[in-house]
Amino acid sequence: MKILGISGSPRRGGNTEILLDEALDAASKSGAQTEKVILSTYRYSPCLSCGACEKTGRCIQQDDMLGIYEKIALADGMIFASPMYFYTVSGWAKSAIDRSQAFWSRKYILKDPVFSVNKKAYFIGLGATKGERLFEGTNLVMKYFYDAIGYEAAGELLIKGIDKKGDILNYPKHLEAARLLGGKAAGR
Ligand SMILES: Cc1cc2nc3c(=O)[nH]c(=O)nc-3n(C[C@H](O)[C@H](O)[C@H](O)COP(=O)(O)O)c2cc1C
Repeated sequence: MKILGISGSPRRGGNTEILLDEALDAASKSGAQTEKVILSTYRYSPCLSCGACEKTGRCIQQDDMLGIYEKIALADGMIFASPMYFYTVSGWAKSAIDRSQAFWSRKYILKDPVFSVNKKAYFIGLGATKGERLFEGTNLVMKYFYDAIGYEAAGELLIKGIDKKGDILNYPKHLEAARLLGGKAAGR
């Protein structure tokens, strides 16, 4: 079983990546084959809304998103992690999500049955504030992203009050929760 971990944080070794690493390590120890994608190390543009994917199911932009599409399509499960930026996922994450319009077109316009198979997706989100509505926008973004790419929400870990780089290391309970999520993603 292949589990794809995607991080939307550009801060290398930051809170999101630490949690994702815990989750992927637990998934790997539960027998899954894992791969980590740090979106900020790839070069891709936002969606151009050109409409080409509505006809072909493919994006006309020849950039690193092509490789990410392939990883999403070939994985059996996904763990998507992002810090909250202005009450939603980071721009890195949102641009990749918008580019999955190519998958949406394949599923809903071209009726490609491949994208009707729901694979399991897990979300890790965290932010600095403790606002009650911190994850409200993100919950909808992720729900419709999963739907477009042939995944379904299977679990989430949402953490408030984490700001400085590496702060998350002071919270063993959150690290443990990330490991539990990773184990679950691997089917344990
Ligand atoms: C551009 C930017 C926007 C942010 N917006 C929010 C926000 O709306 N709400 C919040 O709680 N934290 C916000 N934060 C704080 C981050 O979510 C927080 O520092 C998080 O721990 C960063 O995770 P990382 O170490 O994985 O990058 C923002 C940080 C940045 C850089």
